Amino acid sequence: MTIIINMRDGIDERKLRIAARLIREGKLVAFPTETVYGLGADALNESAVRRIFEAKGRPADNPLIVHISSFSQVHELAREVPEEAKMLAREFWPGPLAIVLPKSEIVPKVTTGGLDTVAIRMPANKIALKLIELSGRPIAAPSANISGKPSPTSAEHVAEDFYGKIECIVDGGETKIGVESTVIDLTEWPPVLLRPGGLPLEEIERVIGEVRVHPAVYGKKVDVAKAPGMKYRHYAPNAEVIVVEGSREKVGAKIRELVEEFKSKGLKVGVIGSADYGADEFFFLGRSVEEVARNLFKALRYMDRAGVDIVIAEGVEEKGLGLAVMNRLRKASGYRIVKA
Ligand code: TXA
Ligand code: MG
Repeated sequence: MTIIINMRDGIDERKLRIAARLIREGKLVAFPTETVYGLGADALNESAVRRIFEAKGRPADNPLIVHISSFSQVHELAREVPEEAKMLAREFWPGPLAIVLPKSEIVPKVTTGGLDTVAIRMPANKIALKLIELSGRPIAAPSANISGKPSPTSAEHVAEDFYGKIECIVDGGETKIGVESTVIDLTEWPPVLLRPGGLPLEEIERVIGEVRVHPAVYGKKVDVAKAPGMKYRHYAPNAEVIVVEGSREKVGAKIRELVEEFKSKGLKVGVIGSADYGADEFFFLGRSVEEVARNLFKALRYMDRAGVDIVIAEGVEEKGLGLAVMNRLRKASGYRIVKA
């Protein structure tokens, strides 16, 4: 049985208390954040956290982000809190930034995928913050999708994957940012960008100076011991995905050519981007990179429902949110990239 709590028109504290109680009882509650929906459980309750991994089909070595509603919780969850963590939190929390720090004793290894570090984030969503506050617990929450599928940006997406399998879904409407948080590791110096996301790298560097970008961000095969999440295929619809990268005009011509080629083989072709280029199915991603980020996962899920055989995605420039968008697209494609 899954209770769906509608909170699209604002917070209803009485109803949110029901969800908070479920968290305290070790149950699973999906909730909105500003990035994507999270599949939440009490981060300090081992058996509750184990259920997150089971429900998602998530490999046990892929650590979860722990969500908080007040900065003081950082001192409970982390052994050391460097000055840079405070600077970043002051600037960007609540917001789409997860900070990796050495974990304290109270955080179970199940939550951190066996690592001695913990990723912490304060989400910029009123429902999420209130849920954490009312539950009185830090909430571990990966994106609320079956492992490997596109992340959910609406309660409908969550229901597609988890209806009947979790206790509660809090529906807060569509998420604002649409790609997951930026993950930065402060247990090394210089700090390492592990996942580009909703907070642009440029913004982080403005506050703490130069950051090393983990090579896996660009799809390089690397030692994945520090960030096991990097080795798994992600964000993938059932259809095959191809990303076309290059200058605007060349990309358009290349996509048109590929669409023709696949159609002539009798395949049903979908395009996600700025124009349809003659495809059978088309999802307009948006005019700005912010809009593209917001629509990206929805577009991938749409293509699955439309039953296309192949999705051709139009690349964007890797600036600002573009770095996160391209990272997700390349992963979704399993690195099938065509340079135009
Ligand atoms: O925006 C988000 O971050 C969403 C919402 C729900 O907050 N959550 C999310 O969680 O995207 P998930 O589990 O789908 O992605 C968490 C990422 C993974 O790539 C994981 O490997 C990395 O964060 N991560 C978590 N803890 C880590 C740690 N201790 N060290 C290195 N990477 C870590
Ligand atoms: Mg995820």
